[in-house]
Amino acid sequence: MNKDIWAALHQNYKEKDWIDKPSIFAEVAAGYFPKSGKVLDLGAGQAQDSRYFADQGFSVVSTDLESSAQELAKSKLSAEQRKLITFKVVDLREELPFEDATFDVVYAHLSLHYFNYETTRNIFGEIKRVLKPGGMVAFLVNSTSDPEYKAGERLEDDYFQINKAAKRYFSVESARNFTKHFETILLDDLGETYKDNAKGVRNLVRFIGKKPLITK
Ligand SMILES: C[S@@+](CC[C@H](N)C(=O)[O-])C[C@H]1O[C@@H](n2cnc3c(N)ncnc32)[C@H](O)[C@@H]1O
Repeated sequence: MNKDIWAALHQNYKEKDWIDKPSIFAEVAAGYFPKSGKVLDLGAGQAQDSRYFADQGFSVVSTDLESSAQELAKSKLSAEQRKLITFKVVDLREELPFEDATFDVVYAHLSLHYFNYETTRNIFGEIKRVLKPGGMVAFLVNSTSDPEYKAGERLEDDYFQINKAAKRYFSVESARNFTKHFETILLDDLGETYKDNAKGVRNLVRFIGKKPLITK
């Protein structure tokens, strides 16, 4: 999906009652995070989870393709959040603009399921590269149990063009495959979001894991 479509969607999201509260997954994931450190939030949108992690004392780099979402987020920051959060426009289809081993946590809520197989594999490689050894990765993505799965035109296995959006659907198995270079702490399809709960969908794929201390 191009930036203009995301900009329009963010105008719609800004009216939602969930847009200013931490996601259900952020609250679960934070329970596994270290006590402090540096979090990279990928595809953070209007940064409700970045703000939540800052409130937990983390310093956060909040990234998204869409700068208008970041402008909306900036207007809502408390003074303390402003000290802890920096915003950066980052396109996940490209190499992440960070040095190796920069972050204690890389987090992505509903932002890693828009890409073809090769790009998705590269994104996980980039996540691993920018994580410190022993750093945590946590993400929530669409699942193959979603009622929308297989709607639209098939682009690749588990990847479909649905109206203007190309969307990937993960199974626990495919998530295991993409994350095989991490140690798994939690992997299931019991993820929920406020938005999907309203549609009766409670089966998103959740992954929480660690970059090994020693990588082969
Ligand atoms: C469903 S929204 C999730 C936003 C936020 N994490 C949340 O949970 O509310 C997906 C986000 O991914 C961003 N996005 C889409 N394509 C992207 C890309 N190529 N690189 C970085 N972000 C992208 C969109 O702008 C949007 O903010």
